Order: sequence, then structure tokens, then C-alpha cells
Amino acid sequence: MLVLGIETSCDETAVALVEDGVTVRSNVIGSQIDHHRPFGGVVPEIAARAHLEMMLPTIGQALVEAGATYDDLEGVAVTAGPGLVGALLVGVAAAKSISLAHDIPLIGVNHLEGHVCATQLEHGLIDPPMLALIVSGGHTSLVLLDREGGFTSIGATIDDAAGEAFDKVARFIGLPFPGGPEIDRLSRDGDPTAIAFPRAMLNSGNYDFSMSGLKTAVIRELRRMDAVGEEIVLADVAASFTEAITDVLVTKTIRAAEEHDVERVTLVGGVAANSRLREALADRCRAAGRRLLLPQPVLCTDNGAMIAAAGFNRLAAGQTTAVDLDADPSLGLHAMPIAHT
Ligand code: KG4
Ligand code: ZN
Repeated sequence: MLVLGIETSCDETAVALVEDGVTVRSNVIGSQIDHHRPFGGVVPEIAARAHLEMMLPTIGQALVEAGATYDDLEGVAVTAGPGLVGALLVGVAAAKSISLAHDIPLIGVNHLEGHVCATQLEHGLIDPPMLALIVSGGHTSLVLLDREGGFTSIGATIDDAAGEAFDKVARFIGLPFPGGPEIDRLSRDGDPTAIAFPRAMLNSGNYDFSMSGLKTAVIRELRRMDAVGEEIVLADVAASFTEAITDVLVTKTIRAAEEHDVERVTLVGGVAANSRLREALADRCRAAGRRLLLPQPVLCTDNGAMIAAAGFNRLAAGQTTAVDLDADPSLGLHAMPIAHT
């Protein structure tokens, strides 16, 4: 079953073709980074306009790369939310048009459900129970997935998302947008123990996170070093900051897996591309006897393949969406159907 997936919730115009919910036939990601970089962040109006320009060529390229035509499609899945409303609308309009013109079932997908389903592109169809750490530019949540595909959020950030913290710290130290990958690269040459940044809410007794204090601590430390004339080694700052975020995310994830007795853990969302976070969670899962399901980095950041995978699951469960589907910038996470082979 071939499903086309369209993702336009933020600044990637992404389209992919996925077979049977697991095999990526094409995965085209048109980045708008050059449009947004001069502004140091995503500008919603610019994102929507760039999606409009790139939407049809990106769909065409995804079909060509997969060697497929519209006639081969059995479903068209699209991110309906959460995200930037103007950006979402472009993908939703494109998906509805394809659905109507070619009489193909339409499937509206939650962006976070998509991130979780990236796991099945690497490790086979999702087989809950599973614990998902979702870390992106807009979200930081620990979610339990039960056998029926129900989602229970057991903790989330009370302020900034993890990706937001990476981007803000990067911006402060003069790195280009998006800052996450830049800090990742810089950290590899740094000493993660150089500066003891705070581990906020590590022992808060729940699974919530707080990231904004860490960002402030980095800024304060840099100002202090500057004021006393201490040499600032940016690689050490980046590595120590990454270590503090990683420590909290990993410790709480392992604690949750143990307390809820879940054997399978997955790490998804853009920040899941972070090399130190991947390595640390893999080590700690191994030590705790848990199995970590990690999508490759290109499937962690926004892409159409994860949306097609989630769409396949819904389609296989007979859940299609009416063509009056609307973009919903604050769409909530609901139970997700589990596809079985
Ligand atoms: O999932 P995503 O592509 O878009 C959202 O749904 O938000 O996540 C984007 C976020 C950005 O904040 C970006 O800086 C961060 O993911 N990110 C990273 C890395 N790659 C992307 N953060 C840390 N290390 C990385 N390697
Ligand atoms: Zn995302």
C-alpha cells in the first residue's frame, strides 16, 4: 500500500512516498533555512509563501524519485497540526486537491504522531507498549503508548522546548539558525564537564522538564566569564550545555521506563538527531535492560515519510478523513491506530 505523506507544519516543505508504512520509496525535504536565517528564526509569513512555491515541485520530485504516479497511491496523508497555521494550510490544501482530483483517501495526521511513527520506518511497525521521548523545536514530552495505541503524556516541558533551548543558546553565542545542529557539531570538540550547568527539575518527583533556566544560566555564565576576562571556549560551553539537557532528558526517560515497566523506548523529534543525546540514551537503555528504537537523524527532523507512516496506520485501521479537513495549529494528540502485518 503506497501512501504519499505531506509535511508543512514549520519550515520544511517535505513530501515522501512510503510503502506498507515501513519502506521509504522517496523522501524529499525542501529546506527553507536560507529564507529564515537572516531573521534568526522561522518567520511564519515567509514560511507559508515558500511552502506555496515549493509544494508542487516537491510533490512531483517525490513521485519521480519513487518511480510512481498518482494512480499508484492508495492514500494521501498530511500534517493537519500542530504547527504554523499558514504553513499547515498549504500542505492541507495540496493533500485535499490530490485526494479530490485522483479519488484517493485523505488522512489528516497529528505532527507528533508522525514523529513517533518515524520509528517504524527503521524498526518495523510500532509494537506498543512503548515509551516515547518527543523532543523538537516546539515540544518536549514523555509519552506512554499503550497496546491499543492510546497516548498518555506523563510529562512535558513547563517552559521552553528542548529544540528552542538549543536554538536560543546558539543564537546567543553567535551560531546561525537553526542552532541545534550547530551546537551538536561544536560540542564534539568540547569538554562536557567544563561547566556544571544546572539540571533543572531532575529530582522534581514528576516527569516534567524546565529548559528556560538552563538557557539563562548559559547566558549568565558567558557574561560572567567576559566580565572577569576568563577565556571563553565556546566548544566547552556547547558541550556542557548539551550534557545538562541530555542528563535530565535521559535520567527521566529511564526512570519513567522503569516505573511504568516499559521495555521499548523511542527517541523522536528534531532534537533526537543530537549525537550526544542518542549516545547517552543508548548507553543508559542498555544498562537498564531497555531496548532503544532510534530513527536515523534524517527521519528525526521534520519529514514527509513519518507522516506517510502515520497515515498508513490510520488507513490500515479504516480511519480516513473527510475532505473538509482544516489545519489546526494546536491540534491535540489522540489515540493512534496500530497497524499489524
Ligand atoms: O522536529 P523538528 O524538525 O521541527 C519541529 O517540529 O519543531 O525539530 C526542529 C528542532 C530545532 O530546534 C533544531 O535546532 C533541533 O530540532 N535540532 C537539533 C539537532 N538537529 C535539529 N537539536 C540538537 N541537535 C541536533 N543535531
Ligand atoms: Zn517536528
